[in-house]
Amino acid sequence: MSELKKSTTFLTNANYNTSTTLLTLFHFESGSFHRKATKIQHTSIQGKDVYVLDGLFQEKESLELRKIMSQKAFDIKVFSSVQSLEKNEKPCRSLSPKDRWQFFSHPPKAVSELFNFFAMIANRLDIEVMTHPWNLSSKMCNAPAFFINFLEEVSFKQAQIGLHEDYNTETGISFGIPNLYTDAFHDCHFVNGDEGKPWLITVMLYSTSKGYCPEYGMGTGFYQKDGKRALLADCIDMRLVFFEGDILHATEPSHFPPNIQPWRISYVFKLTLNPKKKSQNIKKAFYKLITT
Ligand SMILES: [Fe+2]
Repeated sequence: MSELKKSTTFLTNANYNTSTTLLTLFHFESGSFHRKATKIQHTSIQGKDVYVLDGLFQEKESLELRKIMSQKAFDIKVFSSVQSLEKNEKPCRSLSPKDRWQFFSHPPKAVSELFNFFAMIANRLDIEVMTHPWNLSSKMCNAPAFFINFLEEVSFKQAQIGLHEDYNTETGISFGIPNLYTDAFHDCHFVNGDEGKPWLITVMLYSTSKGYCPEYGMGTGFYQKDGKRALLADCIDMRLVFFEGDILHATEPSHFPPNIQPWRISYVFKLTLNPKKKSQNIKKAFYKLITT
């Protein structure tokens, strides 16, 4: 993997001023990526975008990821939001912070290719692509830039409790984003992906146990503000989902046949796509790049 450039930002929300907050951002700049998805689905939900991409990875990359992760201990509890913690949601399981860093800094081939994909987006759109701060930690919750969720079941109730946004640029984000065309910083309140503004997206890669069927559930549901589900992205091995994290979303319930114990992992990256020019509309440029 090519070396990732680092920078450091600052907090705009004092709740995250804790000893475990780490304000390092990782930038994706170098790496070539020429693969094309075999299937691309774009959905706009009340003006916000979701892209579901299949066929970007090789069989051997899927097998490598499955094998590596089947040897890991997922002994850290993760809640999807403060609300889900308060409502006693059953948490996902994840890796320790040390193992999570080890995975990110020495990724298996599939994730290394994903980093190349991020760098390609930066180069083709002439923008910066970087992670959110490595860890935003308050007394109530952790909001890491990269995390790994291991799931073996999700009840109907848990799916309802787990409905959340990853962030909301209009109510305000918790960290500073440099304005690359003024040498200042963007205001922490903005319309996500508006012209000249950053576009915050969440990227999720699924990996599953062998023979996992979409009917088993644990995909991601995307919801309108009125609570009506607008899209279900089924859980399919090596499926990649890009979405605006201020769309309400939740992991859907599991439906397994008896006597089997499938699992699924999601590798989740929170990214900032940052314009270099005031005239850039990253959201529109991204649509063109992905769909043509
Ligand atoms: Fe989320």
